[in-house]
This record gives sequence, structure tokens and C-alpha cells, in this order.
Amino acid sequence: MTGTKSLLILANWKMQLNNAESLALFKEIDEELKGLKNTEGMGVIICPSFTALPEIAKLIPETKIKLGAQDVFWEQVGVYTGEVSPEMLKECNCQYVLVGHSDRRTYLKETDEMVHLKIKATLASLLSPVICVGETFKERQLGRKDYVVIRQVTQALSGIDLILDSTQLIIAYEPVWVIGSGQAIDSEEAEYMHQVIKQSLIDLYPMKIVENCFRIIYGGSINSQIVKSFLVQPHIDGVLVGGASLNKEEFIGIIKEAIKVQKFK
Ligand code: PGA
Repeated sequence: MTGTKSLLILANWKMQLNNAESLALFKEIDEELKGLKNTEGMGVIICPSFTALPEIAKLIPETKIKLGAQDVFWEQVGVYTGEVSPEMLKECNCQYVLVGHSDRRTYLKETDEMVHLKIKATLASLLSPVICVGETFKERQLGRKDYVVIRQVTQALSGIDLILDSTQLIIAYEPVWVIGSGQAIDSEEAEYMHQVIKQSLIDLYPMKIVENCFRIIYGGSINSQIVKSFLVQPHIDGVLVGGASLNKEEFIGIIKEAIKVQKFK
């Protein structure tokens, strides 16, 4: 345990809420969070859909919550119909961007190369990428989980120089078949995969950069009942929450568990 790292609790609302619902849920969570003690140093990040960002952005200066987007394009301006640039996200008070979520790798055929370009553009705009990696069930069955995750991390970051203290990058380890299934993997298994990811970062960057710039979090069917068993693991710096983040009680329950664990991290 480092003793200096705060835990990250990241909500991914996907395409589940309309604008009014997004705004209402954000306000409810914000209200609850303001009533909680010992949240200093805790990173609560919410990623609504693009269309909900401008309204929520107005509330950001008055809240402890940080805002993230669910995707980004790799150019700043140009003839790219339907795309959203990193600078546009900054205009919406975003600090974080999900990159390479498995929904996008699966349905939109996003490749490691596209993920790489998005990370580069995100960092150039001083936004923090949340780089999603994880193996499919088939890859796991074939004994290729370590290989797949090392490949995704390495290709995502290859050739990207990082400057100490000016960058925060998050790697989210999400075993693909577990996402939305209601059944997370064993927390010790997740801890092992986090160690694999850390080792692949050490192969790419000096230890100081790995320790200061990177956080590694787990995602996949997290809820308030099981979150503690993940957060107490030495290499797990937080969680990425999908379904359970759409329910105020559940999400606040997760944050409360994190507050308890934070004291000992
Ligand atoms: P889940 O989603 O928590 O519903 O499994 C996680 C994610 O897709 O990032």
C-alpha cells in the first residue's frame, strides 16, 4: 500500500439515461456526496452521455464530482461527421475520457490503433484517459488473458512520452464477459490481472512514472456488496461501475465502502 493514493470511483452511464434523467441523478448523487464525511482525496467521476454534458457541466464548479466523457475522437477539428474532439469535451468541464471501452471495441469495431490515437489526442488536451482493457471469455479459455491485456496496454501507449506530475492516466481492467453479467470475477483474480498490467507499464516507463501517473481500476459487475473485497487489494486503485451507478443508493453505497477502505490504503 502506498499511503498516498486516493481511490477512484467512476460511473459509466452508457446510453441508459435521457438528459433530464441524467441531470436529476447527478444532482441526487451530488447532494448525497455533500453530506458524506471523509470524501477528501476520493475521486468520484461520472461519465454521462455526450448530450447530457453541457447541462451537467454547469454544476461542476460547485460539486466534488469530476466529469468524464464516454468517448472522444483523435482530431481537434475537421470534416469528421458525428465526432467530438478533446477540446470540445474540455469546454464541457470534462477532465476524464473513457477510451476503448469494450462496448466500443465490440459494437463499433474500435482497434488498438484507434485507442492509441484517442489517448494521444486526449493527453495533448491535458485530459486524463481511462483506458479500458480486458480479455473475452474465449481468450481466457484459450489461456491468453495475460497476453491480450499486455498487448492492449502496450499498443495503447506505445511511443507516448509522459511527463512526471503533469499527467494522470487510468487503466480500467474489465474482463469483457463479466461486464453487465451481474457476476464479477474473484477479487484475487482481479488483483493478479492488475499486477500483470502494472508489470506491462513497468516495461514501458520508469517506475516513478508508473507510480505517479498511473492508476489501475477494476470494472465488471461491481456493486456495493462486493466492492470492498476489490478495493482492499493492494494493486486495485478503484472501480469502474456501470449498471450499479444508475441507482443512487447503490452508487452511494459503493462510495461509502470506498471511504471505509480509503483510511487503510
Ligand atoms: P457493469 O459495467 O458494472 O454494468 O458490469 C461496467 C462497464 O461496462 O464499464
